[in-house]
Amino acid sequence: MLTEDVLTARFPRLRFAQLPTPLEEAPRLGAALGGVRVLIKRDDLTGLALGGNKARKLEWLIGEAKACGADCVITLGAGQSNHCRQTAAAAARAGLDCYLILSPPFHGEGQGNLLLDDLLGATLIRVENSDAVERATDDLIARLRAEGRQPYLIPVGGSNPVGALGYVLCALELHDQLARLGTTPSHLFVASGSAGTQGGLLVGARAAGDGYRIVGISPGSKAAGVISRVLAVANATAEKIGLPDRFGPSDVLVDDGYTGPAYGTLTAECIAAIRLLARTEGILLDPVYAGKAMAGLIDYIRRGVIPRDSTVVFIHTGGTPALFAYADELRGAR
Ligand SMILES: Cc1ncc(COP(=O)(O)O)c(C=O)c1O
Repeated sequence: MLTEDVLTARFPRLRFAQLPTPLEEAPRLGAALGGVRVLIKRDDLTGLALGGNKARKLEWLIGEAKACGADCVITLGAGQSNHCRQTAAAAARAGLDCYLILSPPFHGEGQGNLLLDDLLGATLIRVENSDAVERATDDLIARLRAEGRQPYLIPVGGSNPVGALGYVLCALELHDQLARLGTTPSHLFVASGSAGTQGGLLVGARAAGDGYRIVGISPGSKAAGVISRVLAVANATAEKIGLPDRFGPSDVLVDDGYTGPAYGTLTAECIAAIRLLARTEGILLDPVYAGKAMAGLIDYIRRGVIPRDSTVVFIHTGGTPALFAYADELRGAR
């Protein structure tokens, strides 16, 4: 049987996330949505520099970096990347230098995650567009090696089979929490970008024998692109941990209908979702990922895709520092 102890014994891990995260009832949200039972998995409370989903992945990624003898880490993301902010924090905890290669959009200059990256001591390298990222990464690795350093490269979003182990474990953790509540959800909603979160959940849910449908809501890419990333990371993760399961397109549901014009742009539905959860449950969502995932969940319920007598799980993946980078657009928005 796949358990946390089995994985922790097999692969290097550093423990710095606050786990297990709570699985909370959201009764006032459920009532506002016509009676659905909504359970919120609070991965915004993982505790590493204001929380979020990357803490789970970074336990394994930084664990591997240390095991490889790295003395610094490099990672990549958009200006307001939560992944970069949490990588900077995890590197600081592990005594590693951290280099962040940041590409547009640079929303909220000096605010939100950009502010925190700096406070956490990361070296920020800005590039003008996403085409320049690969070159900047290669140049940085070459320069660090020439200086005698040993860099460890963490991919975008920490989404490879190492990072995805964090979400395999999240699904096992969720399995135990649902069993204690004696409930079987029909769906699980989660924001899905670089796809290690959804991919890891897929593997963990299958290993735990849970049949809920995982709906990934895309914050930017077209659904087909996210689906192929989920499949790649899920299958590579299953192989890494020695599970016989493999996944195909019919196992993966991704909806890109809540993205809006582009990654990082606010939508009216996202703002409404942020306000609704804040005012019913006192929980803050972010404007780029979890707000859009909640907008998707609300719309599925309102359209009757999810019947009103169902139980659904919403994974709150964090990202709340970005609220402050979007203050001008959020202030007073209806
Ligand atoms: C707050 C938040 N939610 C969800 C995601 C998506 O996770 P993944 O990249 O594993 O798909 C991210 C990724 O950066 C994120 O920052």
